[in-house]
Amino acid sequence: RPLQGELQEQMKRDFEGTPSGLAACNHWGFKLMGKVTDDLLEDIYNYPLEERDVWIMTPPKSGTTWAQEMIWLLANDLDYEGAKTPLMPNRWLYPEAPAIVDKDGIRKFLPADPEKRTITTNSMAGNAHTGARRFVKSHLPLSMNNPRLLDVCKVVYVARNPKDVCVSYYNHNRLMATHGFTGNLELFMQHFMDGNIKLNPCIDHMIEAWNLRHHPNMCFIFYEDMKRDLKSQIRKVAKFLGKDYSEEQVNKLAEHLHIDNFKKNPYVNMEHFKLQGVMHKDRGNFIRKGKTGDWKNHFTPEMTEKFDKWLEQKLKGTDLKFVTEL
Ligand code: A3P
Repeated sequence: RPLQGELQEQMKRDFEGTPSGLAACNHWGFKLMGKVTDDLLEDIYNYPLEERDVWIMTPPKSGTTWAQEMIWLLANDLDYEGAKTPLMPNRWLYPEAPAIVDKDGIRKFLPADPEKRTITTNSMAGNAHTGARRFVKSHLPLSMNNPRLLDVCKVVYVARNPKDVCVSYYNHNRLMATHGFTGNLELFMQHFMDGNIKLNPCIDHMIEAWNLRHHPNMCFIFYEDMKRDLKSQIRKVAKFLGKDYSEEQVNKLAEHLHIDNFKKNPYVNMEHFKLQGVMHKDRGNFIRKGKTGDWKNHFTPEMTEKFDKWLEQKLKGTDLKFVTEL
């Protein structure tokens, strides 16, 4: 199937590295990894679907990892032991990984002894398949994925207010040794708004999913609702997955997902990336603050004004609204 649509074209340009994408990123000190070919985009577009698949779709830094753990446990009868092997990234397929992660780049960070590897390039490339129900993660918008996705699979979409996403993504780009961003937040914010950052533009991504939020195979949730009342979101996703859990079970899961426990949980906190050198050891953690409204600690009044104007423009004509503080 041919790729269609302006959004796809924009994403493709960014990935491919035309002046709006890679060149601009390089110019500002970004380093995009991986290489996107038409073949890969076609593969993603035609990704084979199975009815039992559960997908998570998010723009990066929207609480993906947090929601992944919630979804996986809810779908797997709260198998806390199973949630320890393998590590989070290997429990989920990630079809677009070759587009994001330079496989040769990542390979050089892996211990030579395969036994010691906690992450495999195969699973990053989305080939790991245990024969059980598949869990698939995508940061790409719906329109870049298989057009039958919602007809066949269940999709949980997580949206987060773009200001916190921007700050979180900035920190992520500094944390990941493989990203190499050296600029300040103001510069990052400009790129964020201009769509020069990979896997953006996140607003278009969210609007597209928001418009499909009533589809029976779509469960659209907000990071801010998970922050405000995690148990209600656990129940919502459980129902969507056809599961029914007791209050006690919901309480236990909410405790498991609480940021204090999440930070300490080696199976989800991505600390192994530090051991592998993929993440800097001294620039914070993947599970960072986990707050709504952290942007207020980082945006100057001028930045806020600029961002608000941009956001207002982007949201024209949609009823999608964001909560930016709790
Ligand atoms: P911050 O950088 O704002 O702290 P993703 O998994 O999509 O990369 O999203 C990462 C963001 O989710 C980070 O946001 C991270 O701290 C936050 N997060 C991860 N686990 C969380 C949890 N248990 N509770 C709240 N936020 C969490």
